[in-house]
Amino acid sequence: MIGLLEDQNRDTLTLSIEDDGKGMDEQMAQKALDPFFTTKDGKKIGLGLSLLSQAARQTGGDLKIDSKRGKGTKITAVFNADHPDMKPVGDVFETMTALVAGNPATQFILDYKTSDYDYHFDSFE
Ligand SMILES: Nc1ncnc2c1ncn2[C@@H]1O[C@H](COP(=O)(O)OP(=O)(O)O)[C@@H](O)[C@H]1O
Ligand SMILES: [Mg+2]
Repeated sequence: MIGLLEDQNRDTLTLSIEDDGKGMDEQMAQKALDPFFTTKDGKKIGLGLSLLSQAARQTGGDLKIDSKRGKGTKITAVFNADHPDMKPVGDVFETMTALVAGNPATQFILDYKTSDYDYHFDSFE
């Protein structure tokens, strides 16, 4: 489940990504932000979360991980959208299309709410 929500004053953009996957214990969730931590075989770096966290912090925002082993994970990244180091959001629809096409067995739910969009999408509907 992916949420991309802009606040009314366009000051902050909150990205939340929630899954019902493996989850992480507390120690692992801490390590997950380390650019050299990954549990993927044959891979020595796991840059995803660390880059996202860096991008959020560069705007004066933050990233937090709520996770329970065996239950799932929620990542929340808050960006200060008017900060000069804010990265462009990019084409959300194109990204979703690629995600869904590449992982047809996974259900993706997107809530995308900004001043320009109020969009809900469920890949299983
Ligand atoms: N949603 C998640 N559920 C369970 N484990 C996760 C999740 N996201 C990240 N992790 C753990 O943190 C590690 C680092 O994640 P990430 O920065 O995305 O790099 P990568 O996915 O390339 O390994 C992963 O290898 C995995 O062990
Ligand atoms: Mg990853």
